[in-house]
Amino acid sequence: MNEEIYLTGITTTGTPHIGNYVGAIRPGIAASKDPEKKNYYFLADFHALAKNEDPDKISRSTLEIAAAWMALGLDTGHATFYRQSDIPEITELTWVLTSMTAKGLMNRAHSYKASVQANLDSGNNDPDKGITMALYSYPILMAADILMFKSTKVPVGRDQKQHVEMARDIAQRFNHHYGDLFVLPEPVIDDHTAVLSGLDGRKMSKSYNNTIPLFAPEKALRKLIMKIKTNSLEPGEPKQTDGSTLFEIYKAFASREETDEVAKHYADGIAWGQMKQQLFEYINDHIKPARDEYERLVADPAMVEAELE
Ligand code: TRP
Repeated sequence: MNEEIYLTGITTTGTPHIGNYVGAIRPGIAASKDPEKKNYYFLADFHALAKNEDPDKISRSTLEIAAAWMALGLDTGHATFYRQSDIPEITELTWVLTSMTAKGLMNRAHSYKASVQANLDSGNNDPDKGITMALYSYPILMAADILMFKSTKVPVGRDQKQHVEMARDIAQRFNHHYGDLFVLPEPVIDDHTAVLSGLDGRKMSKSYNNTIPLFAPEKALRKLIMKIKTNSLEPGEPKQTDGSTLFEIYKAFASREETDEVAKHYADGIAWGQMKQQLFEYINDHIKPARDEYERLVADPAMVEAELE
């Protein structure tokens, strides 16, 4: 069998959050420790442009996300670690793939459809208001990212699954016309953690502003966790783990045994305040060693830049 090639990217539109960690960074770093696997990890700064972010924010985010990968132990000697915009061939390939992509395929993209729906819901009579061509074609750039390096495995959160499937569709169409050049990638989605909710119970996303930054200082982290939405059940009343954001996040970090243990506490009626404290302590202990290194790197952009160069 051919060697597995792992590849994933994170859009540089904000501070790295725990969703980025469990969806992309953690599985990526795990794969990078396996000498049998080839690895490509990158900062999707051209994808960030599609969301019309301001340049200072994009470069700050690029620094922070790069520092996060490095602080958490990415072996950049073994993995190829880069900034998307530093490789002009990716955007060249995007155009070639754009010529092979049915417009109808892009019409079906969840992210585009969600923007249209938001316009309709707010009573706008232009369903495409505020939608750039970059947002519309976003999945084609992502297909170029993936197909460029013939990657076989793409660790992502469940919200990105459709994009990886689109990359497959586009590759198949290209191969059909021009011969077998591209490898069909597969998404790697950890069922344990695939849908992480944010502070308000909706999907954790920079677009909803409900994320928990991975390297929030201890006090800020505690404060954010205390804000996570729960229901109004009293201490002593049995609680459901299903649909509990606190539980989901705990599960994304903890081992199976630890998670089973917490499920028992739920059934026994653990108080929400106590569960929040426990979650805070768990994440804080887990992240603490990397946090110092992260802060050091963010304060030394030249060091991060050298690594990307
Ligand atoms: N769209 C992804 C996100 O927002 C980031 C991304 C860009 C990506 N290109 C990719 C992920 C290629 C995996 C593979 O999370």
